[in-house]
Amino acid sequence: MASVEDRIEAFESAQVDALERLIVAAPLYTSGPHDPTAAPSWQEPYFTTPAHQRPKFEMGDDPRLPKMPAKPTLLDYFTYRFGPIEHLLQSARLAKINGCSEKMILACLLHDISMAGMIGSDHGYWGAQLIEPYVDEEVSWAIRYHQALRFFPDPSVGYEYPVAYHQFFGEDYVPDDYIKRDHDYARNHKWYMSARIITMNDLYAFDPDVRVDIGDFEDIIGRHFRQPEEGLGYDNSPSAHMWRTIIRPRKFL
Ligand SMILES: [Fe+2]
Ligand SMILES: [Fe+2]
Repeated sequence: MASVEDRIEAFESAQVDALERLIVAAPLYTSGPHDPTAAPSWQEPYFTTPAHQRPKFEMGDDPRLPKMPAKPTLLDYFTYRFGPIEHLLQSARLAKINGCSEKMILACLLHDISMAGMIGSDHGYWGAQLIEPYVDEEVSWAIRYHQALRFFPDPSVGYEYPVAYHQFFGEDYVPDDYIKRDHDYARNHKWYMSARIITMNDLYAFDPDVRVDIGDFEDIIGRHFRQPEEGLGYDNSPSAHMWRTIIRPRKFL
């Protein structure tokens, strides 16, 4: 446990790093290493500093991140916030090679954007919600369910349980009940194959020797992603706030 003095010092150096603004991490970013039910580490030094010496919290752009355009497009997020995007580009490339529809190529291009720019836990669900207002319902549906379908083989299309998952999670890993439930639901849905197509292209999209240019998909994005005029994040859609959080992940409020 750091002494109060140590913590004040940490707090002071944080101010310098943050160019006079105090940039703090939300509970979701620190939960685990830090007990989420305990006070965040900045609180005590902040409140024990005389009020007139306390820094202001960052409410604008994080100076450590590249500045986003005022009216950001999906491509701007790929450029300034998502990474690494090679897997997404390779998935979309395979979908194209395999003769998938433009809608499905877009679904493959966006299937892991939550992992690339926001959060890994339940990334299929987060990613679907993020893009839902801007794409055909089938695209977001497929992205939502690809996460569950990845864990379940389908011999009828030659999809096997991923070898990589044995390595990532262990031979004895058992998916959560809600993942099983959502697989069972998706299995009998009219769009099952759309989500399954994502998993099939997903599986082979980890080739370190293949380079893909996002420019190859600009036309498809233009035709199938409804880019809002005000900029993605400032358009008042049900997920606009999620895009704004990607722009400014540590805005205090
Ligand atoms: Fe995924
Ligand atoms: Fe993936």
